[in-house]
Order: sequence, then structure tokens, then C-alpha cells
Amino acid sequence: MARNAKGLAGEVRRLKEETDTVILAHNYQVPEVQDVADYVGDSLGLARQASRTPHKTILFCGVHFMAETAAIISPQKRVLIPDPEAGCSLSDSITVGELRDWKARHPGAVSVGYVNTTAAIKAELDYCCTSSNAVAVVNAIPKSREVLFLPDMFLGAYVAKATGRKNMRIWAGECHVHAGIRPEDVSRRLESMRNAEFLVHPECSCTTPILHDVAAGGYGDIRASVLSTEGMMRRAAESDSDSFVVATETGMLYRLAKQNPGKRFVAASDAAECRYMKMITLEKVRDSLARSRHEVRVPPRTAERARLAIQRMLEIG
Ligand code: 13P
Ligand code: SF4
Repeated sequence: MARNAKGLAGEVRRLKEETDTVILAHNYQVPEVQDVADYVGDSLGLARQASRTPHKTILFCGVHFMAETAAIISPQKRVLIPDPEAGCSLSDSITVGELRDWKARHPGAVSVGYVNTTAAIKAELDYCCTSSNAVAVVNAIPKSREVLFLPDMFLGAYVAKATGRKNMRIWAGECHVHAGIRPEDVSRRLESMRNAEFLVHPECSCTTPILHDVAAGGYGDIRASVLSTEGMMRRAAESDSDSFVVATETGMLYRLAKQNPGKRFVAASDAAECRYMKMITLEKVRDSLARSRHEVRVPPRTAERARLAIQRMLEIG
């Protein structure tokens, strides 16, 4: 680490103690931010950490909807985000008006929204889910009830397949980063690394076609699993494979390599970078702590309604 970065990291650690702050960082954060965090994890794990932390302030290094989720489940804490412009193309793919309209056209349906949604959308939902418990959440809904699943169409298609559910309507939203990992990028990598194991995030557009090819024996005996980012961490640690092709945002590779020395991790696509996640820098983390900025506030009425859907998510899976 460069001397300047080392100095900054030391400053962040000191400020975090002085201000009774816990730093939560998503698996896609840049390495130097992951290194100063108290917890690094997926959306579900970070939401759980936010709900139980004893610290007065949560500094959330991730995108805005994740910090909002922390603020909703921990209303007595102060939640800061180093850059309030760190948004998410997936959470922007549905508006409250569109959701209300969709629900009105399907009265009696149960609405399930991915955690990658704004607080205002969560306030309209029956259930919230993440990539690690989406299948369990949908399975918890009586089979006779129609399900409206939003906003990610690839995660939705995967959940419909995994649950065998025929009465699921899926919103046509997508994450530009995961949708951009094309099946041909993945095929090329898998062709060149025949002994590798394949780890794929369910937001990827390549999930269904590649898994189909794998099941049909198109890549020999290759092992493939659809996993949340934390699921990838667990799989990499327990697997006896020594190389992996990873289809998700490239920030994931840092922690995978750090916690699994001796194993090799290669991105399915080097272009899969989320510019929103990368807006959080160590300098902004320091400034946020030093100046106690930018606080994430959710209007109490919205938070109260959204909390129910989030609590259901935390209880399942
Ligand atoms: P995870 O819940 O798997 O961490 O994914 C969050 C996300 O934003 C994926 O792009
Ligand atoms: Fe949103 Fe996609 Fe970035 Fe995840 S990778 S935060 S879904 S834009």
C-alpha cells in the first residue's frame, strides 16, 4: 500500500474509534476500503450486521439503497454514506407509480422485491429478498398466491426455475453490470480454463444459457453454482477446486483471492465494474467520518412500512 494510503487508513481507523462508528463494506468495494471495514459482505449479511451493531454510527460503504436499508432497520443509529451519489441502475429500473399500477392490475398478488430497490419501493412491498434468500422467500409464499417479483428479470427467471413456480410475474429490470456479462465472454473463459469451477451471480444475463450448456455437458465435468456474493466466498473456501471463473462485479476478486491463498480467481468479464460502487474511495470514507457527512435519512412513515418487508427478509434464509 502506498504511504499516503497507509496514512489515510490509519486516520480512518482512529476516527472510527473516536466517533464510535462501525464500517460496513460491500464485497464490490475497492480493496483499500474493504481493508478498513469491520465487516465485508453481501447485502443480506450487511443488513444483518446493521441490525445488531452496538455502535452509535454506521458508515456504509456500498450503494445508496443498502445504506437506506441500514437506516430503516436501525432507526436509532446514524447512518452515513461516503458519497450520496452512489446509486444503482437496477434500483432505478422501477418507480413507485409503476409498482402501484402493476399491483392494481394484479389484486391479491404478493409482491416480492429485491433488496436493490429504494426505500419508497420497499414501503410498497409484502416481502423483500436478496440474492442469497430469494428462493427461500418465494417458497415461503403459499403456492396458490400469484407473485409479483421485481425488479431484476434474471434473478426472477432463476427463482421461477428454482421454485418451479408458474404463477410468478417478473418485472423487466436489469443491472447494467451483470446484464453486460455476455454468454460469449463466459464461454470463452470456460473454454480456456477447463479445470476451473464456475461461480455465477443470479443477476447475470448469462446465468440461464450457461447453466443449460453446463448441464448438457458442453464444458465437460465443470462444476457451476448460482450464488450471492457471500455464497461465492463460502463456496470458494469449501471447494477443492484450485481455480474459479467468477461471473459478477470484479471487486469480488480481491476478497476471494485474499481469503483463499493458493487458489486462482478469474473474472468472467474484466469489464464488469460497477461505477457506483467505485465512487466510494478511502478519501471519502475519511471525510465522511471526520465531518460526519452524508447522513442517510428515510422519512419515518416510509421507513415504518418498508421495515416490515425487510424484517421478513431477515427472518427467512
Ligand atoms: P449481493 O446481495 O449478492 O451482495 O449482491 C448485491 C448487488 O448489488 C449485486 O450487484
Ligand atoms: Fe446496482 Fe448492479 Fe452496481 Fe449491484 S452491480 S450496485 S445491482 S448497478
